[in-house]
Amino acid sequence: SAAEKGGHDYFMLKEIEEQPEALANTLRGHFSDGVVLDEQRLSEQDLRDIGKVFVVACGTAYHAGLLAKYAIEHWCRIPVEVELASEFRYRDPVLGRDTLVVAISQSGETADTLEAVRHARTQHARVLAISNTNGSQIPRESDAVLYTHAGPEIGVAATKTFLAQIAANYLVGLALAQARGTKYPEELEREFEELAAMPEAVRSALSTVEQTRELAERFSEAKAVLFLGRHVGYPVALEGALKLKELAYMHAEGFAAGELKHGPIALIEDGLPVVVNMPSNKGNSQLHAKLVSNIREIQARGAHTIVIAEEGDDVVRPFADEIIEVPAVPTLLQPLVSAVPLQVLAAEVARNRGYDVDKPRNLAKSVTVE
Ligand code: G6P
Repeated sequence: SAAEKGGHDYFMLKEIEEQPEALANTLRGHFSDGVVLDEQRLSEQDLRDIGKVFVVACGTAYHAGLLAKYAIEHWCRIPVEVELASEFRYRDPVLGRDTLVVAISQSGETADTLEAVRHARTQHARVLAISNTNGSQIPRESDAVLYTHAGPEIGVAATKTFLAQIAANYLVGLALAQARGTKYPEELEREFEELAAMPEAVRSALSTVEQTRELAERFSEAKAVLFLGRHVGYPVALEGALKLKELAYMHAEGFAAGELKHGPIALIEDGLPVVVNMPSNKGNSQLHAKLVSNIREIQARGAHTIVIAEEGDDVVRPFADEIIEVPAVPTLLQPLVSAVPLQVLAAEVARNRGYDVDKPRNLAKSVTVE
């Protein structure tokens, strides 16, 4: 009924709007005199000894995992590789007691991710699970667990669990930095406080919903849509494209904006919508300038640019055919606000095309076969 859907036509929009609570609930209780995980069967020494991290996941959880790399390498100074769970165990990855495998799975039951975990354990790696489902198989087979508390997600395409996974990844990064001593307690607390401010920022990003719905009306018949980003904006571009494929059955690709000149720019033609995820001009002005020049290049070739930018970004504005403004937040946290309009865009394009937003064809919420 409409009431169950929070007054919306479909659950996904309700779940998009629940993202501030999903984040707040995921963060709650995880910081008191330091970062606390939910289940911890590893010793402090085990954590201290970790010299390499692999993140394994599928689908949207994989995109959350890509973001873990930026935070963990930056905070902990340990190399991080992010890999699709379905590829991981088939290539004989180098694993050992000093390797931490972070397995991210909303359902906690995804067969590919579970098998990756089992493989890691046969190689004596330590496994930390991030899951939205209490007591599910992946957490049960892991050495440490951090639960996301996004609540049940009805829409097949992940939304609030994606944001919660990103927050959980960052908590894992802080927990590792704490164990390894690469951050002072005050720094850890400051990083946590920045995370704790995100539910409010996401709430204010929700004010882009109406504008994005109108935009979606105009692009619902597009043949294809490209998504560009750099740094943490790159995984967001991949996620924006995945959402549009899943829900609107539209050809969509996400690219690292720096790669444009090495191929994707050949795809640009008159009127092609290109969604660009801008970094902050204050946080990373060099990267910002490079993206502005990417936008000019594609605009000159006829692309219709839809730019997601930080509020008050007047530098990019003249080059944006459409601009969606999201709140200014620290660089690593930017995906939490910029994902919001991309989720709405995909859902609304799907709805305009007459598709069932909550139950896209051929897809299942949890995939328990390899
Ligand atoms: C399925 C769902 C996706 C999800 C992926 C991983 O394909 O349709 O939305 O991202 O599985 O699911 P998990 O439960 O492991 O996060």
